[in-house]
Amino acid sequence: MTKKLKNIVCGFMLTLFSMNAMAQGNYTPTPENLQARKAFKEMRFGIFLHWGIYSMFGQGEWYLQNANIDRNEYAKAADAFYPHRFNAWEWVRAIKEAGAQYICLTSRHHDGFSMWKTDESDYNIVDATPFKRDVIKELADACHSKGVKLHLYYSHLDWMREDYPLGRTGLQTGRDPQKQNWASYKQFMNNQLTELLTRYGEIGAIWFDGYWDHNQDSVPFDWELREQYNLIHRLQPACLIGNNHHEEVKPGEDIQIFERDLPGQNTAGFADHAAEVSTLPLETCETMNGMWGYKVTDQDYKSTDGLIRLLVHTAGMGANLLLNIGPQPNGELPATALQRLKEMGEWMSKYGSTIYNTKAGDVPPQPWGAMTRKPLKRYLHITHSTADGTLTVPIDGIVRDALVYGTNQKVSFKQKKGNPMTTFTIPPHEDVVDYIIEVRVTEVHPYEL
Ligand code: GLC
Repeated sequence: MTKKLKNIVCGFMLTLFSMNAMAQGNYTPTPENLQARKAFKEMRFGIFLHWGIYSMFGQGEWYLQNANIDRNEYAKAADAFYPHRFNAWEWVRAIKEAGAQYICLTSRHHDGFSMWKTDESDYNIVDATPFKRDVIKELADACHSKGVKLHLYYSHLDWMREDYPLGRTGLQTGRDPQKQNWASYKQFMNNQLTELLTRYGEIGAIWFDGYWDHNQDSVPFDWELREQYNLIHRLQPACLIGNNHHEEVKPGEDIQIFERDLPGQNTAGFADHAAEVSTLPLETCETMNGMWGYKVTDQDYKSTDGLIRLLVHTAGMGANLLLNIGPQPNGELPATALQRLKEMGEWMSKYGSTIYNTKAGDVPPQPWGAMTRKPLKRYLHITHSTADGTLTVPIDGIVRDALVYGTNQKVSFKQKKGNPMTTFTIPPHEDVVDYIIEVRVTEVHPYEL
């Protein structure tokens, strides 16, 4: 076989292999969808925004349930919601300058309030507030114009509507249990999703949450996800579907989500076991302080260094980081969050190419830091010094040379023939958030093609 033919055959086999690996159950993603998955993985960093009328209470997005409030009393907040400082363009600018490439906004959280002009209920930002502006429209316009992808969080559960079949949360909000009606609620959701996917241009992903509300039902609850997922893919084939159900991925899903955990971990304890890590693109979501929605008492922000290291570790696992901010009731992002975005942006502008468009390293994150990889390159992100100033790691390939990232300074290393374990001597350096060594190797692995 000639070399050219060999390459073609090899490429064909790889495509077959990857298509097969991508097919889950009886779901085969479309080419547009596969392309969107690839683009999703390359972005590595997004910002989550939890914003709704719950922000007004300053107690996080679960206030309606946690404080056992009557839903009609709670809903009165809508009539006073006037976030006069909201400026979608400023949000997008600050987020983009941070180096984030996508935004995921809560379109409707568990309190059932819709942040767009929906025809399905008056309980929405245009019809129920004096503000009367469709923030999804404004954010979509700003995102599309600035090349930032817009993803939408959508809650499966609803603590307000009476047709929502009661689960294990939101049972004290004063609903009449006689009025539960799954067929009606399902139609409502699918109509709303249709609006979101037909009125605001390209939506990069729908991010579902709330599935777990029915995980203690005596008879397993059927969310009829396939019908809903099919609808989404029919309306926008490239729209990625993720579901924060804390279970193994289900047919029709395009990304796998881990809440407050790196892929495969279950330290947050949302399920009885860690969901198995799939071959789908991965995303870890985490808060900047402690809460998702704005909480007036929560000033416990993670340090910029901590956030950068979190981003490095998620990238080292081959996952995106979706980092949350809870915008204020007046429509501004909190000043501390803006500061963190700015500082992360400064770091990303120098080191972003060791994060974007990389794959998981040849080893998962370790106490010393994490590794990311690109064809013919590995980046050793040393976030914690090693005791003896050396680092021994497996490198999948023959090491050609190693440099301190962004400089011509050589880093000495030892790698024995046929043995991936490579020892690098870390040059003495000042304490930095992440000391990066760029390793150049000689062979492209098929995994990287
Ligand atoms: C949880 C919470 C929800 C939050 C989400 C973000 O599921 O119920 O309030 O939106 O996590 O990951």
